[in-house]
Amino acid sequence: MPIPKLSTLFAQAGSRRDPATGAISVPIYQTASFSHPALGRSTGFDYSRTSNPTRLALEETLAAADGGARGFAFASGLAALDTLLRLFAPGDRIVVTEDLYGGTFRLFERVFRPLGIDARYVDTADTAAVGRAIEDPRVRAVFVETPTNPLLKIADLRALAVLTRARGVLLIVDNTFLTPCLQRPLELGADVVTYSATKFLAGHNDVVAGALVARTPELADKIAFLQNACGAVLGPQDAWLTLRGLKTLPLRLRQQQENAIAIASWLAGHPRVRRVLYPGLPSHPGHEILVREGSGFGGMIACEVEDPARIPAILENVRVFLFAESLGGVESLITYPAVQTHADIDPATRERLGINASLLRLSVGIEDADDLIRDLAAVL
Ligand SMILES: Cc1ncc(COP(=O)(O)O)c(C=O)c1O
Repeated sequence: MPIPKLSTLFAQAGSRRDPATGAISVPIYQTASFSHPALGRSTGFDYSRTSNPTRLALEETLAAADGGARGFAFASGLAALDTLLRLFAPGDRIVVTEDLYGGTFRLFERVFRPLGIDARYVDTADTAAVGRAIEDPRVRAVFVETPTNPLLKIADLRALAVLTRARGVLLIVDNTFLTPCLQRPLELGADVVTYSATKFLAGHNDVVAGALVARTPELADKIAFLQNACGAVLGPQDAWLTLRGLKTLPLRLRQQQENAIAIASWLAGHPRVRRVLYPGLPSHPGHEILVREGSGFGGMIACEVEDPARIPAILENVRVFLFAESLGGVESLITYPAVQTHADIDPATRERLGINASLLRLSVGIEDADDLIRDLAAVL
């Protein structure tokens, strides 16, 4: 049997896992513990922190989707990253994307820096800059968010993997924005993929979840140890909701991307919009990389409005977009990164990176593109 395409894999995620009843939807195994048939024997499940059948169905689906040895589901995207970063020791340095989700920055700065793990921020869309940064002998990993949140910069993962492999350091990729449907970092040479599954993977703004997928069994064993030892696992209900969301991921993404292309093209011609950042526009500096290394551009757009004084009115008056944090769900959301998702980055750094007072981020959903454009037209 050839490896199934992603839409087949996702549509049937969790099916055929309950031979006793033939349930098509994997049951929610709402149990903390599992009884043993005899001393020294196990059904394969002992205690739900270690493994749970509903969570396992999700973890196996994610591993297959990314082509990794094993997948791991966590209570949130940050819980996944928190667990992963415990691979490192005091004195280690990690080269990190400079414009990245503010919560990830906070985790590096406020939690791991005091523990002796040093994040060194660089523009990971600049391969040469990463090359210079990893010459430091303390560097143990490169952590790349691509596209970045919120500026949607694109890293050349294939080129970065050549660098990290030559130095024997890990390449970790936050693939939240594109998902395995549009970018498969492990195939491009990365070692671990991290997700906020809250976003596109689950896709309905109704669950907070995270995931890791490791390329090799050796790395997977280390993560499995940490997942069980630290315990920030995803509960069975939320694992089921995430699986349920995954079934329609390819369909949702197709519509979100189609809508995003229409909206980005329209915004690019609007007189009150100074700059549009969407990797699907041929003018975007990362467009060519995604054409080569990915299979799409996703549903996230950032744009700068001409007059930042209008932003409060824009956020208050949208009627189809919802003014909210988060992204990737079926409902379109509009976010103001400087005061919401990226408030933990100091103002001078935000300004230098371009996360300024004029910047808005759009997470485009599956609604009718004309309704979304009319909504933006009315507020702009
Ligand atoms: C790119 C990215 N990575 C990680 C996270 C953190 O995930 P979570 O909110 O599920 O903890 C987010 C959240 O917005 C994100 O946008």
